[in-house]
Amino acid sequence: MIDSKHLKLILAIDRCGSLNKASKELNLTQSALSHQLKNLEEYLGVDVFNRIGNQLYFTAVGKELKERASIILEQYEDLEAKIQEFKESQIDRYIHGYSQREAQRLQDQATSVSEFLHFDSIWEEGSRVLEIGCGVGAQTRIIAKRNPKVHFTSIDIAEKSLQLARKVIKDEQIDNVDFSLQDVRSLRIQKSHQYDHIFICFFLEHISNPLEILKQVRGLVKKGGTITVIEGDHGSTFFHPDDPYAKAVVEAQVQLQKMRGGNANIGRALYPLLDKAGYQKITVSPRQIYVDRSKPALVEGFIRNTFTAMIQGMSEDLLQEGLVSQAAYHRGIDGLLRTAVADGVFSYTFFKGTAII
Ligand SMILES: C[S@@+](CC[C@H](N)C(=O)[O-])C[C@H]1O[C@@H](n2cnc3c(N)ncnc32)[C@H](O)[C@@H]1O
Repeated sequence: MIDSKHLKLILAIDRCGSLNKASKELNLTQSALSHQLKNLEEYLGVDVFNRIGNQLYFTAVGKELKERASIILEQYEDLEAKIQEFKESQIDRYIHGYSQREAQRLQDQATSVSEFLHFDSIWEEGSRVLEIGCGVGAQTRIIAKRNPKVHFTSIDIAEKSLQLARKVIKDEQIDNVDFSLQDVRSLRIQKSHQYDHIFICFFLEHISNPLEILKQVRGLVKKGGTITVIEGDHGSTFFHPDDPYAKAVVEAQVQLQKMRGGNANIGRALYPLLDKAGYQKITVSPRQIYVDRSKPALVEGFIRNTFTAMIQGMSEDLLQEGLVSQAAYHRGIDGLLRTAVADGVFSYTFFKGTAII
């Protein structure tokens, strides 16, 4: 069929006046270009050029193709720009955004709960793991250090986050990670390049179609490989002293995430999701983070810098959407921070699912 490479080739020959110059412009060898031209003429069943000596002259069909080529290619470019625009608007929908503060929060979160979540994040030496939605590399640095003989390919849709992730990995002298700007929704790979394992952390909660994504990514892994998924569940939060305002801001956050197409209570749904997506030998392990004043590092790192900081980072959106009043928001944040002092207690449960592909 006629495709965009043929149209580009016709326009290049028209612009350059010879096959030789056109092949240089297109970064092709002259024989590759002649081959493509021959294929096109064979497919059409008519000549596109008359060849007189070394000179090429458009035939009537060639002229028609040339005239339409620029219009069609412009439409292609327009379509690609629209798709890019769509992809960027999807990025903007990532609820916590890409601020410096959020990048720091992701790092604090990963550090404070690394033992709970990753004491068993171990893959066999020599294997290749695909990490989906790696963000600023907060989990990447932990799992890559724990598995120095495993190679990680960590992808994200946001170049800005990947730049921070590359820096973190370089600063920590970790050499078993490659980052790549990829949208998982359009990631397809050949069987020979399939990964051994998939790792996903705090990603499914932000997307509207976790089941479809779980089904799709099965195709990226070798048969018998594994998937590991870690997600939170805001509904699992409880604390002392109990406080209706603190509970209300957590619930407002759940509602906000729902309005943006996500599910902040997805942790409890991991088993059914993996099951419906066709995975085998599924196990889900709840990881309760229980914090009281005997654990000062978690008081700081988890209650203040991870959980409360997450709600604080969403303050504008929560207020703008009318999910909570300004006064109730401030009382709610005070209620959450109250759990970080004196006799305060805070509990949150993450869910870690593993399964075979
Ligand atoms: C909450 S962050 C989690 C980052 C990291 N896994 C962590 O735990 O620190 C979710 C990440 O998923 C990325 N993301 C969202 N949609 C994506 C897509 N379609 N393909 C790849 N990454 C995506 C976002 O850009 C964001 O960095």
